[in-house]
Amino acid sequence: MNDQGYAKPIRILHSLLALCMLVQLAVGELMDVPEVEDEHPAHVSMLIPSAFAHEGHHHGVAGAPVEETLGFEVHEVLGLVLAGLILIRVLLAFSSLPGASWGELLPWASARGRKQLFDEISAQMAGWKQGRLAPPEEGETLARTVHGLMILSALIMGVTGTILYFGWSTTAPQTEFIELVASTHEVVVGGLEGLLGAHVLAVILHQRQGHNILARIKPGA
Ligand code: HEM
Repeated sequence: MNDQGYAKPIRILHSLLALCMLVQLAVGELMDVPEVEDEHPAHVSMLIPSAFAHEGHHHGVAGAPVEETLGFEVHEVLGLVLAGLILIRVLLAFSSLPGASWGELLPWASARGRKQLFDEISAQMAGWKQGRLAPPEEGETLARTVHGLMILSALIMGVTGTILYFGWSTTAPQTEFIELVASTHEVVVGGLEGLLGAHVLAVILHQRQGHNILARIKPGA
């Protein structure tokens, strides 16, 4: 990457992605997921919707499809928008734009990158223990690793979410395949939230130490 920071398309995409992703994570935590439960005998023909993901509950009318809540509908639409944004970011990683490439996002995929990562962690560990982060010019292999893992997790969320969009049933219990996809979606979001927490914490620490990394990603800067 050059001194000017990220290329314009990456900056614009980051703003859209960050905004949609933060709203999506909040909606995902709060919404009720409509689900028809499997464990009741046939003569108990009640449809009991439950939040597979977040334990929220609302009850449907017997014999009718489980109604989708507004939160779930917003999650579905925003999820498709996010899947599109992530797809664009993935495609840009094949371009020659500054700061965009797979090589920069996945440094650990090469022996040279793994060595850089190891050396950087060894050199900077003492500072981290005192809450200090080194400026980007002293190495940004770890930061890029976190960025790459966020994009990979977001990609898995997008793929599993799109499968769920088309495969999730509000009229019958989910198939085993859909249950598996839903569990993957649920596990990966935990990882993504952890990475995002680390990302935002690192941004705050860098800004407080005067590194002004926001200028590298702000669309207007
Ligand atoms: C409050 C929200 C956020 C803030 C303040 C923020 C801030 C930043 C900053 C300052 C950078 C530049 C780092 C550098 O100098 O190298 C950056 C890069 C990046 N951020 Fe965020 N970010 C936020 C949310 C997100 C979210 C939600 C995601 C994705 C899930 C994300 C993914 C990335 C990625 C992938 C990069 C590297 C640029 C790229 O390769 O596209 N950020 N962010």
